[in-house]
Amino acid sequence: MKYREQAAVLNIEEIGKDIFSLVLQTRQIAQEAVPGQFVSVYSNDRSRLLPRPISICEADGESGCLRLVFRIAGEGTREFSRLEPGDRVDLVGPLGNGFPAERAEGKRVWLVGGGIGIPPMIQLDHVLEEMGAAASVTAVLGYRDEQFLLDDFTSECVIATEDGSAGTKGNVLDAVRERGLKADVIYACGPTPMLRALKAYALQEGIECWLSLEEKMACGIGACLSCVCRSTEKDEHSQVNNKRICTEGPVFLSTDIEL
Ligand SMILES: Cc1cc2nc3c(=O)[nH]c(=O)nc-3n(C[C@H](O)[C@H](O)[C@H](O)COP(=O)(O)OP(=O)(O)OC[C@H]3O[C@@H](n4cnc5c(N)ncnc54)[C@H](O)[C@@H]3O)c2cc1C
Ligand code: FES
Repeated sequence: MKYREQAAVLNIEEIGKDIFSLVLQTRQIAQEAVPGQFVSVYSNDRSRLLPRPISICEADGESGCLRLVFRIAGEGTREFSRLEPGDRVDLVGPLGNGFPAERAEGKRVWLVGGGIGIPPMIQLDHVLEEMGAAASVTAVLGYRDEQFLLDDFTSECVIATEDGSAGTKGNVLDAVRERGLKADVIYACGPTPMLRALKAYALQEGIECWLSLEEKMACGIGACLSCVCRSTEKDEHSQVNNKRICTEGPVFLSTDIEL
């Protein structure tokens, strides 16, 4: 089920340069959300008709609180950064499929987040902690320089920074190699080059790997085909190698998609 709601802003704060944490009071969306899903956030400016997709960072089903973390990329996200407590925001969600948390059972798990792909890994981290079924969970986080959301993970965090200011100098794979980490299942969200490298690594090592993809979106509900990615299998109905990231994704098994 997805819902359209006018959510109230409970809190907003800048947690890094141009990176904002926004906590909203929802009626249904937080209750229904699973890790890896996203919401479509509408602008209050009528000149920006299309909603902006933002991943769910945390969802508390009991209180209805929904946390989004976003980076200012253009005018839509700049407008959201100026919201204040008490303001109202038009939302649709939860959208997309989400990460299959049950695949972690008895496994050594990596939660890999790169940059603004880190927020959705937090809800997955919390759900895996509650389930208690994984053999181990390690968050492998890649930053350009400034770190954010580190304290929100309950699992052990391994860090890579491009400038070497913290953790391993380099990318997330440099960090796992340096630490000699092993995984049976990888869940990841981040920039395409990082996802591509993880896909190749997982294939080489025989690891099950779930990737959350990003693409520009228009409708967010499967109708416009603006968000397709290349899939390895042909779609039964259309006979093309495409999948819609907004509905069949954003999370895909790495071997099901081309990057
Ligand atoms: C499923 C999904 C989840 C996302 N989750 C988050 C999140 O948790 N936090 C976050 O900060 N951002 C997230 N994004 C990206 C976010 O949607 C875009 O940054 C936002 O729509 C830009 O809107 P804007 O009006 O500020 O910028 P625009 O003026 O629309 O665009 C500014 C720049 O951002 C690029 N851009 C626009 N849309 C996207 C997009 N969908 N993906 C990548 N680049 C884009 C444009 O090419 C342009 O270079 C997510 C995107 C998707 C598809
Ligand atoms: S955004 Fe319209 S089909 Fe995905």
